[in-house]
Amino acid sequence: MKVVLRTLSAFIRTFLGRYVKPRRYDQIFREIDKRRPRNIMEIGTWKGKRAKQIIGHAAQYNSVNTISYFGFDLFEKIDLNVYKLEISKMPPTEREVFDFLSTTNATIKLYAGYTQETLTDISSKLPKMDLVFIDGGHSSQTVLNDWVAVQRLMDENTVVIFDDYWHNRKDGPKVVIDKIDKSNYKVEFLPEVDVFFNPDFGKLVISLVKVTIK
Ligand SMILES: C[S@@+](CC[C@H](N)C(=O)[O-])C[C@H]1O[C@@H](n2cnc3c(N)ncnc32)[C@H](O)[C@@H]1O
Repeated sequence: MKVVLRTLSAFIRTFLGRYVKPRRYDQIFREIDKRRPRNIMEIGTWKGKRAKQIIGHAAQYNSVNTISYFGFDLFEKIDLNVYKLEISKMPPTEREVFDFLSTTNATIKLYAGYTQETLTDISSKLPKMDLVFIDGGHSSQTVLNDWVAVQRLMDENTVVIFDDYWHNRKDGPKVVIDKIDKSNYKVEFLPEVDVFFNPDFGKLVISLVKVTIK
C-alpha cells in the first residue's frame, strides 16, 4: 500500500516538475544510532555530503577524533564511458572532497580509482569496519567486486548497507544482493521504499538493503 501511495505521489510531483525527496537515507542514521560506528567505509563518496552527515551523526556517540572514514571513488578519474557504464553521478576532485571532509576532524582516508583496483589492493590492510555503505559503481560486476572485498572487512558487528536495490529492474546491485549466501549472512530490506520517475530509467522502486553476519 505504501509503495502504491509513494508511486502516485512521485508520479504527480514529477508531472508537476516538483522535487521528490528520497526517504530511504534517514535509515542509515537509525543504523548508526544502534551500531555507533567508529570505522566507517563508503564506496562512492561522490561530493562527500553523505559522508559528512554520517560522520556528524556518528560523532554523537564517539569522540570525532576516534572516527575514521574510508572513502572510495573515481573522483577526477571518471570519464564519460564509465559514467554511463556504472549508471553513476559525476564526482568532484579528490582534493576538494578531502578538504570538505577534513572539517569534520575525523580521520579521512580517500582512495581514488576503480574499486576493482583500489579496494581489491588495499582491503587486506584495512581494519574491520563497523559500517559500510556500498553506493559506488552500479554495474553488477563492480558491485560484486565491492561485496567480495567488503566481506573481508566484516566481523560479527559490522553493518553493511547497499544502496539502489532496484526492485523493478533486473540489473545493478540486485543481481549481487539476490545471490548473497543466506546461510552465512542476514539480508534485510530496510522498510522505507523510494519511488522515482527518472527520464533515463522510467519508474524506479528503490530500497536500501542491510547485510550482517549471521
Ligand atoms: C551514486 S554516487 C555516490 C553517492 C553518495 N554515496 C551519496 O550518498 O551521496 C556514485 C559514486 O560512485 C563513483 N563510482 C562509480 N563507479 C565507480 C568505480 N568503479 N569505482 C569507484 N568509484 C566509482 C562515482 O564516481 C560516484 O561519485
